[in-house]
This record gives sequence, C-alpha cells and structure tokens, in this order.
Amino acid sequence: MNHTELIAAAEHFAREQLGGDTTGHDWYHTDRVRNMAALIAGSEGANTVICTVAALLHDVADEKLNASKEAGLLKVQVWLEGHLPDEAARRHIMEIIETMSFSGGGGGPMSTLEGQVVQDADRLDALGAIGIARTMVFSGAKGRPVYDPEIAPRDESLQKEYRDYSKGTAVNHFYEKLLKLKELMNTAYGRQLAEERHQFMLDFLEQFYKEWNQGAAPSGSRQLD
Ligand code: ADP
Ligand code: NI
Repeated sequence: MNHTELIAAAEHFAREQLGGDTTGHDWYHTDRVRNMAALIAGSEGANTVICTVAALLHDVADEKLNASKEAGLLKVQVWLEGHLPDEAARRHIMEIIETMSFSGGGGGPMSTLEGQVVQDADRLDALGAIGIARTMVFSGAKGRPVYDPEIAPRDESLQKEYRDYSKGTAVNHFYEKLLKLKELMNTAYGRQLAEERHQFMLDFLEQFYKEWNQGAAPSGSRQLD
C-alpha cells in the first residue's frame, strides 16, 4: 500500500467512525485538522504522511467516543496493524495520538516534531470562529448554559473537573482553556496562525458582554416619570 492509498484508507476509516458525531468531533473537524497539519508540516519540515495519518485518526480513539480510552486506542492500533507494515511509523502515530489530548493537566509535551504539528493543528481548530461554534455546540450537547455571570471560571488542570460539565458555562470555557492555547502552541507557524484566532475570540467576548449588558441601564439613569 503506497502513501496515497494509506491516507485514503485512513480517511475512509475516520469518516466511518466519526460521521455521526455532533459534539465537535465530527468528520469535518478531522478534515480541517488534517489539512492544517499538512500545511504546518510543510512549513516546519515535518513528515507529512505521519502528520496526516495521525491527524486523520486522532479523534477515532477519543475517550468520549469509545467505551474507554484504552478501547479507543486499541481500535486505532488494530487498524494500523492492518494497513501500515512499518512498525516504527505505527508506534510514532500511536504515540502522537496517546499524548495529544489537552485534558488532564495539559497532557505531556509532544516528543516529536510530527506530534507538535498535529497538536497545533488540533488546537487551532479549537480557536477562532470555528472554535467559538464548536464550544457552543459542545456546551449544548452537555447541557451547559451559554453564560452565567454568577459562575466563575475554574482551574481546568484537574482531570476530574475538566470532565464535570455540570458546573460550567460555554463562556467560561474560553478562560479555562481556549485563551490559554495561544501560549501553548509548539511551532512558530502554528503560533502565528493562532494569533488572529485568539484576537477574534477576545473581540467576540467583548461584544458578547456589551450586548449582554446593553439592556441593563446603569442605576440612576432611568427616568420613569
Ligand atoms: P479536541 O478534540 O479538539 O482536543 P475536546 O475533545 O476537548 O477537543 O473538545 C471538542 C470541542 O468542544 C472543542 O472545540 C472544545 O473547545 C470544546 N469543549 C471541550 N470541553 C468543553 C467544555 N467543558 N465546555 C465547552 N466546550 C468544550
Ligand atoms: Ni480533535
């Protein structure tokens, strides 16, 4: 199987596994991450095939879409064994997928350039207009309110808190995770792309609060008679 066939097969597998998801891990998220990973790989001199296959498979193993994290990883491992004879490449891809997730203390640092590239691509998809849309959809799926001025952002470094959706809001997620990602970007090109998306989220929040408070006249300013 040549590289083109391997990538086509991985694409087919990811589409089939992620097609029906409505919590932010749908196929088009994976498709964007895969395109972004290839773009960054080109600029950073990383191995594009490893980056593309890892990006295509990164969410197939996600613990939210599987009975457990282990079950998800095993599914990807079995698929790779059937499609990629190169054992070192298989291990490289598995290592990227295992270490990539943000949850639980930010994950460990990515140990290879390809891992850094794919993680940057995934993080970029959590930022900007797309990131805002995904956060709202995810929050709706988890029953979280958009905003509640009485609920303060939490320290998301604790794995338990991160997956306890009942106590947070969509807007808090910006402070708990999204606005921190710019500083965590691995590659120079990734960081450059993150800048614009970061600023867009700040502008969004500013406008959001402005609209939220617009109807609430400051005390003393309302004349009833
Ligand atoms: P990824 O697969 O990109 O690592 P996650 O699985 O953590 O991201 O989440 C998928 C999407 O849902 C992302 O856009 C993320 O920002 C958003 N999201 C994750 N956790 C929360 C949360 N607790 N509240 C609101 N949105 C969230
Ligand atoms: Ni992802």
